[in-house]
Amino acid sequence: QTETAAPPRPELFDFHGVSMTHYFTDNWDNVQNFQAKPDDILIATYPKAGTTWVCHMLDLLYFGKSSPKRGDSLPIYERVPFLEIYIPVFAPGVELAEKMTTSPRLIKTHFPVQFVPKSFWEQKCRIVYVARNAKDNAVSYFHFDRMNNGQPESGDWPSFLQRFQEGKMAWGSWYDHVKGWWEKKQAYPKLLYLHYEDLAEDMDREMDRVCSFLGLCPTEEERHQVKEEVQFDAMKKNSMTNYSTFSVMDFKISPFMRKGKVGDWKNHFTVYQNEQFDKEYQKKMMNTTVRFRTEI
Ligand code: A3P
Repeated sequence: QTETAAPPRPELFDFHGVSMTHYFTDNWDNVQNFQAKPDDILIATYPKAGTTWVCHMLDLLYFGKSSPKRGDSLPIYERVPFLEIYIPVFAPGVELAEKMTTSPRLIKTHFPVQFVPKSFWEQKCRIVYVARNAKDNAVSYFHFDRMNNGQPESGDWPSFLQRFQEGKMAWGSWYDHVKGWWEKKQAYPKLLYLHYEDLAEDMDREMDRVCSFLGLCPTEEERHQVKEEVQFDAMKKNSMTNYSTFSVMDFKISPFMRKGKVGDWKNHFTVYQNEQFDKEYQKKMMNTTVRFRTEI
C-alpha cells in the first residue's frame, strides 16, 4: 500500500487582480461569509514574513498558562487556523476556526487587505500585521516554494526573483500587500503593524507593543517564559512549531525553520540582482511611507 500521494503542485492564476492558487480560493464563498466574533484576533502577513513566530507568541501570551499546555500537543496550524486554506490533505481553515472553543480565537491569513472577509471589519476585530523586508522575504519564499508541494514550482533563484518583483507569487505582490495593509492602518486603529526586523532586534520592546495593543499584562515570569519559547532555536526544535508534522513539506529540500535571520538575502543576491532590485523597489515603493530595514 502506497502512502497518500501529495497533492499536485498548483498553478498560479489571476484572481480578482491578485496571483493565487486554487488551494486558497476554492473555499472562497465560505471564507468570505466567515462570521468573525468581536474578540477574534486576525494575524495577517505576506507569506514568510514571520507568521508562525507571531502566531506562537500570541498563542503563548493568551494560552501559555493553560493546563495541560495546548502548545505541547497541538501544532501551530491547529492552534491558529489558516482561514483560506483548502487543501485535500488538511481540514479547511474555516472549519477549524468555526470549531474553536477557546476565546479569543487567533486566526491567520495571508490575504491582501481587500480580500479580508467583511465581518472582521464589522466586528471591529483586532488585527496584527507582520511585514518583512522584501529581500529576505523573497529568499525565504524561494526556499519555501522549493520544499512545499502545496505551492507552485519555485523555478531557479533568478527566475523566482523576477517573478517576485512582478508579483507573480501566491497571494500576489509583496509590494501591494505591505502597502495595502499600511494604508489600512491609517484608517483602522485596531491594526498593529509589526516588522520582522524589529522583532529580531528587540523582542522585549515588541512584546510590550503587542501586549499593550491587546490589553494583556503578563507577569515578568510569564514574559520571560514566552520570550524563551519564541526564540528561533526553541521553535526549530519544537515539533509543534516547526511544521515537521505537516506532510506536504519536504524537509530534505529545506526545513521550515530555515535560518531566521535578517540579512540572509546577501547570501543569495548577486551584485547585479541587488542593484536591479533596488531600482525597481524605488519605483514600486514611491507612493508609500512604509519603511523597511534590510539589515539590523
Ligand atoms: P527563513 O526562511 O528566512 O529562515 P512564516 O512563518 O511567515 O512562514 O515565516 C517563516 C520565516 O520566519 C522563516 O524565515 C523562519 O525561519 C522565520 N522564523 C520563524 N520563527 C522564527 C523565530 N522564532 N525567530 C526568527 N525567525 C523565525
